[in-house]
Amino acid sequence: MTNELPYSQSCENNKDPILAILKQTFAASNNVLEVGSGTGQHAVHFASNLPHLVWQTSDQLDYHDGLRQRLAAFPTDNVLPPIALKVGESSLPFARFDSVFSANTAHIMQQAEIAQMMKALSDDLPADGCFCQYGPFIENGEFNSQGNADFHEYLVTNGYGGYRDIDELKSWAPNLSLIEIHRMPANNLLLEWRKK
Ligand SMILES: C[S@@+](CC[C@H](N)C(=O)[O-])C[C@H]1O[C@@H](n2cnc3c(N)ncnc32)[C@H](O)[C@@H]1O
Repeated sequence: MTNELPYSQSCENNKDPILAILKQTFAASNNVLEVGSGTGQHAVHFASNLPHLVWQTSDQLDYHDGLRQRLAAFPTDNVLPPIALKVGESSLPFARFDSVFSANTAHIMQQAEIAQMMKALSDDLPADGCFCQYGPFIENGEFNSQGNADFHEYLVTNGYGGYRDIDELKSWAPNLSLIEIHRMPANNLLLEWRKK
């Protein structure tokens, strides 16, 4: 059955390096919202290894069947079934969570969508709330590999928003502090933001 589930090889590759960071950044968290849960591989892995918190999955409706199948195949007490959340269309429930996680979404969303998400996180996360944002980014105006520059071109050519510069993200989120840029395998980053 698991072979039929939506599957991402990159999730399998990055889930343990990300978990090692989340064990620190989410140590004091109670309830985490994941934006863009995708296949659900991250949700079941992180929640089962962070049993002190509740993990709320979310995504656009098209992803919900696959997500529900994965949650059924890997039952984990502290994962909640997905809520419908499409930045740009849905109201953003960040005030109800003390932490938010999102992987590989900033370069898929349109610029206006990721700008709206950063502003809502900045406005609505509770004091000391934590946002962990994983993916490839532009840093100081530069791509960190030719592969990332090429993938950005592919995304923009095919109607996606493309990579975002970290300074651009900061400008949309004046009430968030970028506490640390964690260097991850495969030229990815994990940006650890905290509400001021
Ligand atoms: C490349 S996948 C990443 C999925 C998963 N987080 C991972 O790391 O494998 C991009 C995800 O972003 C979500 N996404 C794209 N645009 C979105 C939007 N406007 N609001 C919420 N999610 C969005 C997609 O539905 C999809 O789940």
